[in-house]
Amino acid sequence: MGLPAGLLDAGYTRLLRPVLFRAYDGDPEAIHERTIRLLAGVGSEALARALTGLVAGSSGRRTTVAGIDFPSRVGLAAGLDKDATAVLAWQGLGFGFAELGTVTGRAQPGNPKPRMFRLRDSKALVNRMGFNNPGAEAVAATLAARNVYRGNAAAGIPIGISIGKTKLVALEDAVADYLLSFRLLAPHADYVAVNVSSPNTPGLRALQDGGALADLVGALRTEAEALAAGGRPVPIFVKVAPDLTWAQLDEVLATCADHGAAGLVATNTTLARDGLAASDQGRAGEAGGLSGAPLTRRAREVVAYVCAHTRLPVIGSGGVMTAADAVALFDAGASLVQLYTGFIYGGPGLPAAVNALDGERKGS
Ligand code: FNR
Repeated sequence: MGLPAGLLDAGYTRLLRPVLFRAYDGDPEAIHERTIRLLAGVGSEALARALTGLVAGSSGRRTTVAGIDFPSRVGLAAGLDKDATAVLAWQGLGFGFAELGTVTGRAQPGNPKPRMFRLRDSKALVNRMGFNNPGAEAVAATLAARNVYRGNAAAGIPIGISIGKTKLVALEDAVADYLLSFRLLAPHADYVAVNVSSPNTPGLRALQDGGALADLVGALRTEAEALAAGGRPVPIFVKVAPDLTWAQLDEVLATCADHGAAGLVATNTTLARDGLAASDQGRAGEAGGLSGAPLTRRAREVVAYVCAHTRLPVIGSGGVMTAADAVALFDAGASLVQLYTGFIYGGPGLPAAVNALDGERKGS
């Protein structure tokens, strides 16, 4: 028997969060790493069962998107489990799918620390991690060691893998770098997300431009078909920034439809600094992408626009801090939603609450 979402929420926000936020002198990256290391131990079946029990009873709403069967509509957003080591933990924490990565072709350290900042009064984060990750080969080995392969449900939920460009690879060689990651990781992924929208790799967002995006998505789709050898190619989702204009988004949507993308993820973090509490203005000056509550409105607006202008399915991401925020993205047309910052501030009570509310609305 699982705990009700409300109790989980109070347990996390009143008891656990204050401890986590104070740990390591309040360094968010240090406690993040420690927590992921702990969750990576969840390979052990007993702990996995205990975690599943914690959030049981909030089963959410089952759905099929891009040919994938999702047990519920709320997932983990990219960036939280970059190395894929905690892949077996996310189902137990209440998620209906998890997007791992972003992974790049080559291992890289990311930007110098500190590079992750809490803006507590704004319920937000600013990060400029810069795709720190062990590289596609190492992540593929991590997933192989846990027997996670496309379609085998080893993690209990569908697994997306986000791929991005290695910083040292020139923009004109980006396609080859994405292809390297794609070949290594697609066999382990129920879907692949193409990240062209992180603000923390110089030039990356230029890959959202029509011609560059067409080359990239076209090449990945051709590779997906080759890998599938007549079977169903792995679905490719393109993740967009919330800072694009409507005209730029129109171009992205046309390119995705024309070159065989299966769907979109909207949105990544923003370069804007609107909606911050006065007490957080100091940290607002940190370079990087802003996520959490200040992004809620813009993400909703972009999701609504995208859904109104494409027939491809959309995964909504950005500022889901409450179950009602998730429902607003569903109402805007999203097929699925993802959380990052809301999970940091709300803990496992949030996916449980989203599932409870989404499940309740099922017949409505
Ligand atoms: C991210 N995000 C992200 N996205 C992505 O596609 N690849 C990545 O590697 C990362 N890394 C990352 C690190 C950190 C510290 C944060 C806070 C965010 C973006 C994330 O997946 C999500 O799209 C945004 O954060 C917006 O959602 P939330 O956080 O407001 O729920």
